[in-house]
Amino acid sequence: MNQPIRWGILGTGIIARKFAEALRDVPDAHLQAVASRNLDTALAFGRDFDVASCHGSYQALADDPQIDVVYIATPHPMHAANVRMCLEADKPVLCEKPFTMNAREARAVVALARERKLFLMEAMWSRFLPGIVEARRLIDDGIIGTPQNVLADFGFVANVAADHRLVNSALGGGALLDLGIYPLSMAAHFLGPIAAATAMAELGATGVDEQTAFTLRHSAGGLSSCLCSFRATTPGQITISGPLGHVRIARPFNRAEHLTIALQGADVRTVALPPTGNGYPHEIIEVGRCLRGGLLESPVISLDQTVALLDCMDAMRAQFGLRYPADQ
Ligand SMILES: NC(=O)c1ccc[n+]([C@@H]2O[C@H](COP(=O)([O-])OP(=O)(O)OC[C@H]3O[C@@H](n4cnc5c(N)ncnc54)[C@H](OP(=O)(O)O)[C@@H]3O)[C@@H](O)[C@H]2O)c1
Repeated sequence: MNQPIRWGILGTGIIARKFAEALRDVPDAHLQAVASRNLDTALAFGRDFDVASCHGSYQALADDPQIDVVYIATPHPMHAANVRMCLEADKPVLCEKPFTMNAREARAVVALARERKLFLMEAMWSRFLPGIVEARRLIDDGIIGTPQNVLADFGFVANVAADHRLVNSALGGGALLDLGIYPLSMAAHFLGPIAAATAMAELGATGVDEQTAFTLRHSAGGLSSCLCSFRATTPGQITISGPLGHVRIARPFNRAEHLTIALQGADVRTVALPPTGNGYPHEIIEVGRCLRGGLLESPVISLDQTVALLDCMDAMRAQFGLRYPADQ
């Protein structure tokens, strides 16, 4: 793979467009193809981003011999089937978060990727941002001592109609799956595997959670306290604390423009670590690194960890009684 990695984008919504913009900022990556359920939509996307191959079906993209990897940008309930289709066509895959609707679906596609020896990764882009990478390095170096807790939130006001994917159960609506995955994933990134989770939620008129608060106990010790909301504009911070002080990433943490380091007896330091472009280039670079290195998963977010986080979300949903059609 000495040539630029040729990407295909499956789906043409909001995040697909951001990803296409990000590809322009990665020198050894090229947007080769796009697919929509509707050919005219694919052609319009293709005109905007100068894409050589525009497909009117997802299967045609999966079968396209000119692409090296597929990025899946459909609503969550479609992820498992879309990933499966691409793996069966021998394509490596980067799939949007949440990876699937539940752990059962995740286990099935992970097993398929391993059986077919194909790369697969959850698009948890924030883990690859320079600010998060630096925070992790500092904490691994012991700057705050052994980390004891993570405090993280992610919330905005979702002023959307009842059929919008954010709140429509048939499209995987709900704050936990859409937003809660960020604080959950970050808590696991900094404090390790989760042994137990307790959640409380407020459900809205469409039957999905509009805000959820959850507490995690980590296997190696440590507690995390997390919140996700479609009802409030929350600070969007993640704070990792230990006996010697804390590291905080803010405004919002999933873009991680800078971090602050507050250590006992020292002045608070702020370190600017702006992401490249719109922030998504970093996950694209990671996929390229893995593909060129022959890795079948990223060590930064292993498939076992992705499945474990879905197990955790399944358990939390069971506590507040939220089931989706995919859970049947
Ligand atoms: N990483 C991030 O920062 C981030 C941000 C936003 C969203 N996301 C994730 O990305 C995924 C897509 O979110 P989005 O905001 O881009 O959604 P969106 O704007 O609604 O776009 C989703 C696209 O999926 C395709 N699709 C296939 N089946 C569909 C169906 N039954 N209903 C609606 N669309 C369908 C459509 O493309 P065609 O019509 O072309 O087939 C549509 O444009 C979600 O899983 C979400 O969690 C991630």
